[in-house]
Amino acid sequence: MKTISIICQKGGVGKTTSVVNISSIFSTKGYKTLIVDLDPQGNVSTYLNFDKNNNKITNSVNLLEGLTKLNPGILKEKLSIIPSNKEIARYNEEKIIGGSKIWKLKKEGLFDDFDFVFIDTPPTMSSLVQEGIAASDYYLIPTKPEFLAIEGVGQAMNFAKTTLKNTPNINTIFLGVLLNQVETKRASYQDFLKELEYLLGDRLLKNKISHLTEIADSPFYGETVIDFNDESKAKIEFNNLANEIIEKIGKK
Ligand SMILES: Nc1ncnc2c1ncn2[C@@H]1O[C@H](COP(=O)(O)OP(=O)(O)OP(=O)(O)O)[C@@H](O)[C@H]1O
Ligand SMILES: [Mg+2]
Repeated sequence: MKTISIICQKGGVGKTTSVVNISSIFSTKGYKTLIVDLDPQGNVSTYLNFDKNNNKITNSVNLLEGLTKLNPGILKEKLSIIPSNKEIARYNEEKIIGGSKIWKLKKEGLFDDFDFVFIDTPPTMSSLVQEGIAASDYYLIPTKPEFLAIEGVGQAMNFAKTTLKNTPNINTIFLGVLLNQVETKRASYQDFLKELEYLLGDRLLKNKISHLTEIADSPFYGETVIDFNDESKAKIEFNNLANEIIEKIGKK
């Protein structure tokens, strides 16, 4: 079982989009996949048209309260969800001294039924993001190709580094930076890419996701790229990205 959190304090860079689409692809590759939403906005549920207020299923507030048995929502075959709701915001200011709550549950085997767990986090530098990082084997930072985003990536990397310095028994690995919403025809793109490659080297993932209307529209229909036809650019790009992630971290 491997856990990956998607983090960036900058809003709208594609954290939720990455979580739902990468998770969906993983499930179609035969991996039992769980999405955990740690964002008070609850966007994963909205994206997937899932009722986040169904109190019969486990939500991420229950995780932070330390529950010991999971009853996740079922989205599709091999794809489950632990939704969030705005109540989780009250955990935003808690310090994670002594190890994160979700990390402890993971260590106790709460997620062992799954091959992969993907965690969506809010656009903040809060203890909810720290929970996500600490509970994960890897963290991934998505960004848009914009000039100011370079600073945002640096800030996210520093936040993760500081978090891990304060949790000495936890060694979450930096999986890399995902460039999302790419428009190769934009004049500044090649300059931006050169700068990011110079700064990140092989920590910039090779596969990038283009800015595509079909991705922007998919939440309207509760769809992810796996619902698109096989020739769809979005599906091909997310599939290549999923393969790169599997190559980097191993199959399970
Ligand atoms: N590759 C893409 N092409 C087109 N639109 C995209 C793409 N990626 C994301 N979007 C759109 O950009 C917006 C922001 O994406 P998303 O919600 O995934 O970002 P986020 O980082 O999770 O935001 P927040 O910080 O608020 O949680 C959404 O409307 C989404 O549909
Ligand atoms: Mg989001």
